[in-house]
Amino acid sequence: MTMQAVIATRFGGTEVLEYREVGRPVPGAGQLLVKVIASAVGYGDTLIRAGAYRGGPASHAPALPMILGFQASGIVEAAGAGVPAEWLGRRVVVNAPHTNAGFVVCPLQCAVPMPAGVDFGEATLLPNFYLTAYHLLHTAVAARAGQTAVVYAAAGGCGTALVQLGRHLGLTIIAVASSAEKCAFAQRQGADHVVNHGESNVRDAVLQLTHGRGADLIFNSVLGDAVLQDVEALGVYGRLVVYGQAQGLPQGDLFRKFMESGVANSTALVLFSLWTVMQHEPQRIVQALEELLQLLVAGRIRPQVYARLPLAEVARAHELLESRRVLGSVVVEP
Ligand SMILES: NC(=O)c1ccc[n+]([C@@H]2O[C@H](COP(=O)([O-])OP(=O)(O)OC[C@H]3O[C@@H](n4cnc5c(N)ncnc54)[C@H](OP(=O)(O)O)[C@@H]3O)[C@@H](O)[C@H]2O)c1
Repeated sequence: MTMQAVIATRFGGTEVLEYREVGRPVPGAGQLLVKVIASAVGYGDTLIRAGAYRGGPASHAPALPMILGFQASGIVEAAGAGVPAEWLGRRVVVNAPHTNAGFVVCPLQCAVPMPAGVDFGEATLLPNFYLTAYHLLHTAVAARAGQTAVVYAAAGGCGTALVQLGRHLGLTIIAVASSAEKCAFAQRQGADHVVNHGESNVRDAVLQLTHGRGADLIFNSVLGDAVLQDVEALGVYGRLVVYGQAQGLPQGDLFRKFMESGVANSTALVLFSLWTVMQHEPQRIVQALEELLQLLVAGRIRPQVYARLPLAEVARAHELLESRRVLGSVVVEP
């Protein structure tokens, strides 16, 4: 049996993405075969395609050809040995690779049943963007009510999730984005303050908004040399949490900056990859997804679908992400 899938056969621009017929995977013992109803494209997918992905250990660098995609929602079509029969036909969200396809195989512990009434397109944004945001807040740092958090790329997939979940936790959110439109979007997601970094200096704005105290938490997935100034925007015991590098590593010396500007406040740099949780605490992936689905049902989080594209148009989804125009996330549907 076959299926349609999006495969990167070599590194490069969107021209390396091939939408074509491939063999349908077969579930092994303890695995599910899920018919994908909705998947999504994250910035990480564009990095993999371009050969610039740095998300996990170097020994696990993506090997091509590869079916892209790290999240899905769908319906369990078949199961391997040892899987209880009640899983067949269940609506599930899936945290697993190779989801930009008609079907995906995943271990049972990577799928979580979806409550009735949840939209597949919204649910598919949980197993990557919201999951990352959840563990940034709860695992990378134990964020708590009353803290002030700066969120970079606040109108993106992870950023939107951080703003919504941060607000839910009782944080004061300072959203940073590259345009007035993105700032307005972040405000609609619950940000208390917004900073358009094209118009204002982020460090100065954060110090002004916190009356000179500085932020407790800064979630930065962008970097570039601007990250050096973040150190000066951290308050007492402030944590700079780095979980991406869309603008590349800084040329300047971040360690020196911490030694010069961070010691008096006992600040720290925290690195985070969802990979760590997936490898070392997989049960916390399931627990977080169950919690996120409950928050979705209760209307406490609202995944933002910018566009729903046919899977065949996945290249357009990559272009949209790379153009920095997306508000929320782009969903692709087989
Ligand atoms: N550590 C982890 O486990 C983990 C998991 C998932 C994602 N991530 C990382 O988290 C970040 C967000 O991922 P996402 O999928 O939700 O993406 P996204 O936020 O929807 O898109 C990327 C964002 O980065 C900013 N950006 C800065 N320079 C850019 C450039 N040259 N091209 C495109 N965007 C640029 C843009 O915001 P502005 O225009 O407002 O600057 C854009 O919104 C990415 O850096 C990704 O690699 C990390």
